Amino acid sequence: MLTEIELPSSIDQIPIPDEISDYLAASRQRIEAFQDRWDESFIEQFVAADYTMVYQTLTWILEYQPLIGKRFLEWGCGFAITSSLASALGLAVFGIEAHEDLIPQARKTLEQCEHPFQIVHGDFLPRGTERLADDPTLPSLGHAVPCGYEAMGLELDDFALVYSYPWPQEDLFHELVFDQRGARGALMLMFIGPNEMRLMRKTS
Ligand SMILES: C[S@@+](CC[C@H](N)C(=O)[O-])C[C@H]1O[C@@H](n2cnc3c(N)ncnc32)[C@H](O)[C@@H]1O
Repeated sequence: MLTEIELPSSIDQIPIPDEISDYLAASRQRIEAFQDRWDESFIEQFVAADYTMVYQTLTWILEYQPLIGKRFLEWGCGFAITSSLASALGLAVFGIEAHEDLIPQARKTLEQCEHPFQIVHGDFLPRGTERLADDPTLPSLGHAVPCGYEAMGLELDDFALVYSYPWPQEDLFHELVFDQRGARGALMLMFIGPNEMRLMRKTS
């Protein structure tokens, strides 16, 4: 069972260090320049989150929520900006991305980041979980890439904190997968859309 944890409305007051602010501004420019070069079908695959809000929420979690470990997993890491932020905050980070054109972008982020993390080209859905979806057209389904967990030598329940940015209508599917395969006590953080993040703990 997942239990939602209320995020305080004051989270957007959490200060952002200047170097993080500058880094996020440069990252946004990089993403925009990249997206301008690409066709419509690709743009459908990747949408950048509000990384300022993600950083503030991660900072709050680390201060106020007990974690069962240090491992952090970004489902569909795209440019891996959230992965780099989580790594800068001291977590042991892995990002899984299915789209091959995004892997070089994630690697570029890694090269520019002082804090190491791992990028895996693969599927973030653990084997056998696609069948939990009641809609076969969800964007997280059907990626013809190897299982990301086999490449890492880890399972979903090896992670203390899992982050995803689901497309509309697939948040419940992501929750179901985490509820079935995540570790008891682990947290799931989702970027739902502008000004909305959701945090849940697997309580049983
Ligand atoms: C909405 S974007 C979010 C990107 C990034 N997490 C962020 O917050 O900026 C969703 C990403 O998930 C990737 N993705 C979707 N389904 C996937 C799957 N089953 N396995 C791995 N990556 C997937 C897409 O290619 C896309 O880059």
